[in-house]
Amino acid sequence: MKTIGILTSGGDAPGMNAAIRAVVRTSIYNNIKMLGIKQGYQGLVNGEIEEMNLSSVADIIHRGGTILRSSRSDEFQTEEGFQKALNVIKIFDIDGIIVLGGDGTLKGARALSKAGIPTVGIPCTIDNDMGYTDYTVGFFTAVETAVEAIGKIRDTSTSHGRANIIEVMGRHCGDIALYAGIAGGAESIIVPEIEFDINQTIRKAIQGRNRGKLHHIIVLAEGVGNAYDIADGITEHTGIDTRVTILGHVQRGGTPTTFDRIMASEMGRRSVEILKNGESGRALGIKCNEIIDLDIVKALEVKNTFNRKMYETAKILSI
Ligand code: F6P
Repeated sequence: MKTIGILTSGGDAPGMNAAIRAVVRTSIYNNIKMLGIKQGYQGLVNGEIEEMNLSSVADIIHRGGTILRSSRSDEFQTEEGFQKALNVIKIFDIDGIIVLGGDGTLKGARALSKAGIPTVGIPCTIDNDMGYTDYTVGFFTAVETAVEAIGKIRDTSTSHGRANIIEVMGRHCGDIALYAGIAGGAESIIVPEIEFDINQTIRKAIQGRNRGKLHHIIVLAEGVGNAYDIADGITEHTGIDTRVTILGHVQRGGTPTTFDRIMASEMGRRSVEILKNGESGRALGIKCNEIIDLDIVKALEVKNTFNRKMYETAKILSI
């Protein structure tokens, strides 16, 4: 293994820079040349590639975003685009590629691996929606951002005796809502994995108000329903003034938490060692506090499961 390429693709996640740093430093430590592929798979198709050295990754462990930039490339998914990418890999003498991103990104790595290119995937997405790993890099930072927002909104919710809906990201996964909802002491948590019943939310708001509660925090995962319609429904049936905050992309940035940095650093190191040992088509993850790697095809087949026990906890604690 003489030359390794690295790219970040899909939605960025805090901790990607920490992983890039770990990959570059481990490669250089092992006398392997490092190439940074810009803007995800699109950069691989276009040959937007630059050599990286120790200073390329100085002062980035604590920074959100990705110094390599990211994209969601449609072209890479076409036969023509894929062939262009394979050609670029040949031109730059790339012996192996490490990809950082979510489900879609690791599918790209699976395709490259099938085409004979040694690849390793590091799961980086705020959504935590990859079944084979307990956590993905970026998830806990996004949760922290949401918890901080909930705390601030709770102050004003109490002052005004309002209900507040806070919509969080997650695509089709309710983990950000669940973890942030529990940590933020939310009265209701609405996630895509559990059938939504607005009457339950209304009942809770009424019960809370009648026993003198001044605030009412509802954490809503994106895509479950329209936050403004839900707010109107609550106001109509309870008389409680209800406000909506859509957190949006604020969850995608910011300085990564310690846990995200540690996971990213460990996985970054392991990814290089996997390629150096001549293995290919591996997906890194974390299970029961251990960094693991498994066959990327099998990893992508594992269905994501929702933590119903944690959801029960949230229900019990928010009575
Ligand atoms: O996958 C990360 C994520 O932030 C999702 O939570 C969200 O649904 C989506 O990406 C937003 O994508 P974009 O940044 O393209 O608007």
